[in-house]
Amino acid sequence: MRAVFLLPLVLAVCAASSIREKDLDWWETTIFYQIYPRSFADSNGDGIGDLNGITSKLEHIKDIGVEAIWLSPMFQSPMYDFGYDIADFYAVHDEYGTMEDFEALMKRAAELGIKVVLDLVPNHTSNESVWFQEALKGHEKYYNYFVWEDGVIDENGQRQPPNNWLSRFRGSAWEYREEVGKYYLHQFVIGQPDLNYRNPDVVEEMKNVIRFWLEKGVAGYRVDAVNYLFEVDKALFGGKYPDEPLSGKINEDAGSHASLDHIYTKDQNETYYMVYDWRDVLDEFKAKDGVSRVMMTEVYATIQNVVKYFGEGDRVGAQMPFNFDLITDVDASSSAADIKRAVDKFLTYKPVDKEANWIVGNHDNSRMATRYGPALVDGINMIVLLLPGVGVTYMGEEIGMVDGYVSWEDTVDPSGCITNDPINYWKSSRDPERTPFQWNDGLNAGFSTAEKPWLPVAEGYNTLNVEFQKAAEKSHLKVYQALAKLRQEKVFRYGRYESLALNEDIFAFRRWYNNKAYIIVVNMRDTDHVVDLTYFENVSGTVQVELRSVASPKNEGDKYDASALPVVAYEGLVLEVK
Ligand code: GLC
Ligand code: CA
Repeated sequence: MRAVFLLPLVLAVCAASSIREKDLDWWETTIFYQIYPRSFADSNGDGIGDLNGITSKLEHIKDIGVEAIWLSPMFQSPMYDFGYDIADFYAVHDEYGTMEDFEALMKRAAELGIKVVLDLVPNHTSNESVWFQEALKGHEKYYNYFVWEDGVIDENGQRQPPNNWLSRFRGSAWEYREEVGKYYLHQFVIGQPDLNYRNPDVVEEMKNVIRFWLEKGVAGYRVDAVNYLFEVDKALFGGKYPDEPLSGKINEDAGSHASLDHIYTKDQNETYYMVYDWRDVLDEFKAKDGVSRVMMTEVYATIQNVVKYFGEGDRVGAQMPFNFDLITDVDASSSAADIKRAVDKFLTYKPVDKEANWIVGNHDNSRMATRYGPALVDGINMIVLLLPGVGVTYMGEEIGMVDGYVSWEDTVDPSGCITNDPINYWKSSRDPERTPFQWNDGLNAGFSTAEKPWLPVAEGYNTLNVEFQKAAEKSHLKVYQALAKLRQEKVFRYGRYESLALNEDIFAFRRWYNNKAYIIVVNMRDTDHVVDLTYFENVSGTVQVELRSVASPKNEGDKYDASALPVVAYEGLVLEVK
C-alpha cells in the first residue's frame, strides 16, 4: 500500500523541479533596458539622439549582459511631450531617422541577440495627427475617435469647460475647438487629445498599430499610461460627464491633478479587458512562430489594481505590469524595514504563478542614483537584478548617472514649463532624468558633436561614463556586468527568496536553490555595522564575497563568519553561503 503511494509522489517532485527549469521564457531571463531615443546617441550632430545612434551603440547593451531593449516612442511627433504625442503611429519620427534606419536597427539587434520592445501610446494621439485634423474638418469617422463634450455657460455668459476634470500635468483637461464648437478631452497636454475607447473603430485601429510593428519584428510593447484609457460611461450620468470629487489632499492647489480623486477618469474596469484583448493580439503572433511577445504596462496605481493587468480567470494580460514600488514607496530616507516592505509588496500581491519585475527609474522620475544617493548605486542594482523576477534598467543606471541640472531657460519638458514658475519648476520637470547618456569624458560626454545638445549634460560625466568605467578595475559598470552574469545562475533564475531587515539600516535577502545559496546585503545608510546572518534559516559557518560595491573595502573571495559580518556605510555585498 505504502509503496504504491510513494512512487508517484517521488516522480511528481522530480517532474516539478525540472518542468520549472524548462519553463522560463526569453523575457523571464533577460534584463530589459530602457532607451530614451532622444538622449542616447546622436549620429548626425544635430544635438538630438536618433535611431542610427542607438544602432551604433547596441554593442554596449550586449556588453553589459542585456538581451532586450525597450525604446521610448520613436514615432512621428511634433514633440510637445517628446514623442508621447504621436502624429503618425505608422511612421518613424523624422529627427530620429527613417523606416530604413529602424529596419537596420532591428537587423543589428537580431545579429547581437537583442530583442526590441516598442512603446505603445494608446491613450491619446497628437493634435497634429491626421485623425485629429480630419475630426476638426468634421469627418465623422475621425470625429468619433476622440472624446467631445459641450461647454457650459457661466453666469457671466462665458463659455467654460464641461466639468472640473484636470490634466495630469495641470489645468483643465478640456480644450475648446472652434471648428466643431466643442471641447475635447486631453488627460495629458493640450497637444494630446484622448482617444475614445468606447468606439470600436479606435479599438480596431490600435490593434492594427500593434500588428504593424510586430510584423516588423518587434518583441512586444511597453504600454503607456494604460489606466487613463477609459473614462466613465457618460450614459450612466444622463449623457454628461460628472465632476470628480476633491481629493482633500492638502498642499494641492486647484489646478493640480492631485487635487481631485480620479474616480471617473482612471482605473475604469473596461481597461483591464482591453489589455487582455491586446494580449490576444500578441498571442496571434506567438501562435505563428512560437515566440512570445511581451507586454509591460505602465500604471501607477494601488497594488490591487496593478496586479489586475496580469489577467483574470481564463483571460491573460501583461506579463509585466510594471512594479513601481521601488520608485514610489521608498528613497534615500527609507529604513531597511521600509525597503523590505516595498520589495515584499509586489511579491505578496502578484498571482503565485506570475513573475515579479523590478524598476528603480525611468524617463519620468528622478534617477536612482539621485533618489537613493550615488553611494547606493551598486547596492540598488544588486537588489533590482538579483531579486526573483525580471530586472528593468533605465539607461545610465549601469554607470550610476545622476539627474542633470537644467536651468529654467533650458527647460523643455511640458510638465516643468506648465508650472510657469522659474523657482520651483524643477520639482515637476522631467528633464533632469533625460539628460544625454554619458559615453566618455569628451564633448557632450560623447553623446553628440553638436554645440548644444537638446538638454545639457549632467555633472560627474568625467567618471560616470562608459569608457572610463570599462577601463577601470572597479566600477559600477563592472559590478553591473557581474550581476547580469550572476542572474544566469539557476539559484537566481529559479531559487527561492527570503528577506530580512537585519537592523534599521541593513536590508538583506537570501536566494537558494538545491544546495546553493547567496545572501545579498545592502547598507542603506552612512553607518558601519556588524550583522549576524544566521538569522536567515540554514545559514551558519562562513560566507564568501562573490561581489562587492565599488567603495567596499572587501575583496572577492574574502571569507567571513556568517554570525559577525562587518558592513561599512552604503556597502552592497553578494555573499555565497559556504
Ligand atoms: C507616460 C509617459 C510620460 C508621458 C505620459 C503621457 O506616463 O511615460 O512620459 O508624458 O505617459 O503620454
Ligand atoms: Ca541626431
